[in-house]
Amino acid sequence: MKIISVVGARPQFVKLAPMARALSSRCRHSVVHTGQHYDPNMSDVFFDELGIPRPDHHLDVGSASHGAQTGRMLDQLERVFAAEHPGAVLVYGDTNSTLAAALAAVKMHIPVMHLEAGLRSFNRAMPEEHNRVMTDHASDLCLAPTELAMHNLANEGLASRSVLVGDVMTDVLFGVRDRVAGTTSPLALEFDGAPFTLATLHRPANTDDPARLEDILRGLQALDGPTLLLAHPRLRAKAAAAGIALDRPGIVTADPAGYPDLIRLLLAADSVVTDSGGLQKEAFLLRRPCVTVRSDTEWTETIDLGWNTLAGDHPAEIAARLANLPRTPTEEAPYGNGTTAARAAEAILSSLQEA
Ligand code: UD1
Repeated sequence: MKIISVVGARPQFVKLAPMARALSSRCRHSVVHTGQHYDPNMSDVFFDELGIPRPDHHLDVGSASHGAQTGRMLDQLERVFAAEHPGAVLVYGDTNSTLAAALAAVKMHIPVMHLEAGLRSFNRAMPEEHNRVMTDHASDLCLAPTELAMHNLANEGLASRSVLVGDVMTDVLFGVRDRVAGTTSPLALEFDGAPFTLATLHRPANTDDPARLEDILRGLQALDGPTLLLAHPRLRAKAAAAGIALDRPGIVTADPAGYPDLIRLLLAADSVVTDSGGLQKEAFLLRRPCVTVRSDTEWTETIDLGWNTLAGDHPAEIAARLANLPRTPTEEAPYGNGTTAARAAEAILSSLQEA
C-alpha cells in the first residue's frame, strides 16, 4: 500500500513531520510538495529542522491567484497520481494545496484522507473556509482534531466518515518544546529579558486593506512593551505597496521563523497577537495569552478556556483585550496529548483495509 501526502504551505510541513514518521513505519509513504510556499524560510527550513524526508515530487507551482494556483496544482497532481497509483492520498488542513489534492484524487477514485477535518469559522469570505468545507465533502475519511470538529462534521452529514484523532500539531509542539528547552532565540536576546509580545499577521483580511493594517499596527504600538512582528512576505509586500512602515516605535520586525525558533520565541514572549490558527493554539498549549486579530476562530476552545480573545473588529483595543484575559489555570487538553499521529495513521490504515 502506498500513501501519498500532499503539502505545500508552512503549517502543512509541520503536520507532515509526525505523520511521515508514523506512516513510513507501517506502509510506503511518499511526499508531494506543490510549491505553494517556496522561499527557503517558508519551506526548506521546516524540512531541515523537523527531519522531514525530502519530497519525492516538487511541483513548483509558486504564487498566483486562487484559481490559477489551484488549477496548476490540480493538473500536475493528476499526473503524479496517475504515475504513482497511490492507495490513498492524505491532505492536510485548509490551503489551496489541500483542496487541489483532494479534488484531483477524488476524481480519480483514489481514497482521500483529510487530516484536521471539521474545522469551521462559518466565515465564507475566508479562502480557508471554502477549502476545508469542499475538502471534507470530497474525503473518504475525515480525521478530526476536536470534539467540536466532530460535531461540525456530523451537522453536515459526514459523521459516518469521521473519526476523532486529536491534533497532530500538539505532537510536534511538545516534541520541539522539549528539544529547545534551555536555549534562547537570538531574536529574543534583543529584548534583554524584558517582556515582549510576539506577533504575526498574514491573512488577506488584515494585510490587504491599508487602513485596517495601520489600525492593527497602532493597536500593537499601544501595548505596554515592545512587539516582535514576524513578517510574512505577503505582509511585507502589501505594507510596502501601501507605503506603511512596519518597523516603528514599539515594533521590531523579523523574517518568519523556523519552527524551533518560533517555539523558543513563544516561550520567551509574554503574550501573542496573531491571525494564525496554528499560533493561537500553540499559545494556548504553552499558556501564553493571545489576542487573535480576526472576527472568528476555528479554535474556540482557546477562548472558552480563557487564553484567547478576538479583536477582529477592534484592533485599537488589542492592549485592553490582552489585559482583560482571564488566563485561568486549566488542565483541559482539547487538542490531544501529543500522540495523534499514531492514532491518525492507525485510522487511515484500518479504513483502507475495511474498504
Ligand atoms: C497560505 C494559506 C493559509 C495558511 C498560510 C500559512 C491558502 C489560501 N492560504 O496563506 O491558509 O494559513 O498559507 O502561512 O492556501 N509568498 C512569498 N513566498 C512564499 C510564499 C508566499 O513571497 O514562499 C507571498 C506571495 O506574494 C504570495 C503571498 O505570499 O502571493 C501569499 O501566499 P499564499 O500561499 O497564496 O497564501 P498565504 O498567505 O501564505
